[in-house]
Amino acid sequence: METIKIGLVGLGTVGSGVLQMVENNQDKISNITGRKLSVKTIVVRDVHKHRNVDTENIHLTTELDDIINDPEIKIVVEVMGGIHPAKETITALLNAKKHVVTANKDLIASEGEELTSIARKNKCDLMYEASVAGGIPILRTIVNSFAADQITEVKGIVNGTTNYILTQMQQKNCSYDEALQKAQELGFAESDPTNDVDGIDAAYKMIILSQFSFGTHLKLDEMKIQGIRKMQLTDVEQASQLGYTVKLLGIARRINDGVFAEVGPVLVPADHPLATINNENNAVMVTGQAVGETLFYGPGAGGLPTANSVLSDIVSETKNIVLGTTGNSFNNYQNEADHVKASE
Ligand code: NAP
Ligand code: HSE
Repeated sequence: METIKIGLVGLGTVGSGVLQMVENNQDKISNITGRKLSVKTIVVRDVHKHRNVDTENIHLTTELDDIINDPEIKIVVEVMGGIHPAKETITALLNAKKHVVTANKDLIASEGEELTSIARKNKCDLMYEASVAGGIPILRTIVNSFAADQITEVKGIVNGTTNYILTQMQQKNCSYDEALQKAQELGFAESDPTNDVDGIDAAYKMIILSQFSFGTHLKLDEMKIQGIRKMQLTDVEQASQLGYTVKLLGIARRINDGVFAEVGPVLVPADHPLATINNENNAVMVTGQAVGETLFYGPGAGGLPTANSVLSDIVSETKNIVLGTTGNSFNNYQNEADHVKASE
């Protein structure tokens, strides 16, 4: 059976999960796609660093060119994070005709339009299911399962770190600092957790959700964003005594011809479904005109849950390669719709 070779850029929490999942799920993947998958090359900052995963038969390098110049590598996973040099990295990969899968919401929310057009120009796919809500397959669900319905609102808990911190403060009496440290040790937080605790990470995810739900390209400065940095134990205790749970919610709503979006801590009644979402779990509530309210729940951060979303894109892309249907990734959906409208 033919093998599709994969490159990874980054071997931290998510990259290690991806490597493990590719190695441990070969039978299922090859049954579905008719191809084996194999990680051939991994780009990291430090090739001498101790790793918790087996890299014995893999080329570990600091040189992106080792992937760019390797015609055997068809799909590359970017899990290094941040905007620069991730943007330059993905641009170079797409220009080298590699299909790219990423979990990088910072980059997709800020530069996704430009990267999508570079992908389109090169007839390559750029996929990013893992960029929103970790292990919850929410982007594909919005594209496929809300294909004809008009979405009126999308809201929920889309940051695992802050939900973990708030849960630990509420249920375990942990201080904010202790809970943040635990979230970092567990690999939920970004390498610099500023964006998590200040609501920026959730705002990036709401920008991507708004793109998929409403076809808009919001900017961070068009949103009201508040984080949980100033949250005290007494705040969550008082909320609890009054019958509420504090949750960091992202909300995006269609209003007339525009979209209103914000992120901030909200007092949620203790019997509301969102109040029951604990620790690093996320939940996204999508309301459609026809279907009404729907709720999607699951782990919002962590190596293997996020890797599962990355793998869903890799498997999807492998099928595209086998069927000869590359260059039509679901993420281009809105642009495809714009194209159809423009040609009418
Ligand atoms: P991480 O644990 O900090 O790992 C980052 C990896 O990228 C490391 O292996 C690092 O190399 C490598 N790297 C960083 N800068 C590099 C550079 N300039 N050149 C080459 N390699 C570089 O990060 P992570 O938690 O796996 O997150 C990766 C991405 O997934 C981010 O975009 C994040 O937002 C997203 N994400 C994370 C989660 C999660 O739960 N952690 C969930 C969903 C999405 P070294 O190992 O040599 O230092
Ligand atoms: N730092 C992010 C979070 C990772 O805590 O939700 C998942 O995107």
